[in-house]
Amino acid sequence: MTEALGEASGKVILLGEHAVVYGAPALAAGIERGARARATRCSGASALRLGGRELRAAPAEEDVARAFAALLGALPDVGPVRVEAESDLPPGGGLGSSAALGVAIARSVAALAPAPAAAAVTDAAAAWERVFHGNPSGIDTTAAARGGCFRFTRAHGATSIAPRDDLWLCVGSTGVSSSTRIMVELVARLFERKPTLAATSIAGITALVENAALAIEAGDVVGLGRLMDLNQMLLAGMFVSTEAIEALCKLAREAGALGAKITGAGGGGSVIALLPPPGGGATSNVAADRVLAAWRDAGYSGFVTRVKAGV
Ligand code: MEV
Repeated sequence: MTEALGEASGKVILLGEHAVVYGAPALAAGIERGARARATRCSGASALRLGGRELRAAPAEEDVARAFAALLGALPDVGPVRVEAESDLPPGGGLGSSAALGVAIARSVAALAPAPAAAAVTDAAAAWERVFHGNPSGIDTTAAARGGCFRFTRAHGATSIAPRDDLWLCVGSTGVSSSTRIMVELVARLFERKPTLAATSIAGITALVENAALAIEAGDVVGLGRLMDLNQMLLAGMFVSTEAIEALCKLAREAGALGAKITGAGGGGSVIALLPPPGGGATSNVAADRVLAAWRDAGYSGFVTRVKAGV
């Protein structure tokens, strides 16, 4: 084979970001938007084409090239490859763009190997992600690789959760790109200075996550929305919220969302707002239209996504 394709999904973290870095559980789901890659055998040095630029794996002079070199180093040697990759997720948008790219690129290159290399794909995507995020929990690459709705811990990885009903979410963008690495470091410094805050935040978020998993399986969207709001309060107490995030959450709740919070690292990026289900297997949701209109009127963009029941 001389050419192979790879795909991966973006993600939303329903509850538990940041605490998951410290071993607590979190809930996440893959979304329809994601990343794609095409790997082609070539002569000369391996290179990655991304965002209209071509980067060589050696010498790797910037983060993306370093990440590409680390990713290739974790895969079986397939010789020099040229990889073209694209993502329809905004970088720094809290929707797992870098993890989706890492998994899609690793899948495309691994598909050129003579023997199946699925386990190596996980290691390769993790090596890619470490260049950008320093101490990633692994939840973003897990969501990129498996999609669906799941509970995740660093120690035990992912366990599927089957929502009783579809979960309808609006994803709103602050329009501000944020660095997961910087936000995770900010929380680490805060937790070092304030160990009591660390312990209470992590314990509180753990309880919310466990209750939210039950609410998702029971189809209790009102309960889930409340738990998301409480999670947002704890995240704000960890200084990862911003005025734009709070504004998006407030607008969504006023427009009928059952709960709203940061998704991902915060400091900018995106929020998610949980909507009342339309009922009767409808494929559109008027509550979503109201939330998106409220965001649009205030100068923010967003889109609607659905976490499918039973998947
Ligand atoms: C980023 O999507 C989620 C964080 O919890 C970081 C991580 O888990 O690696 C903030």
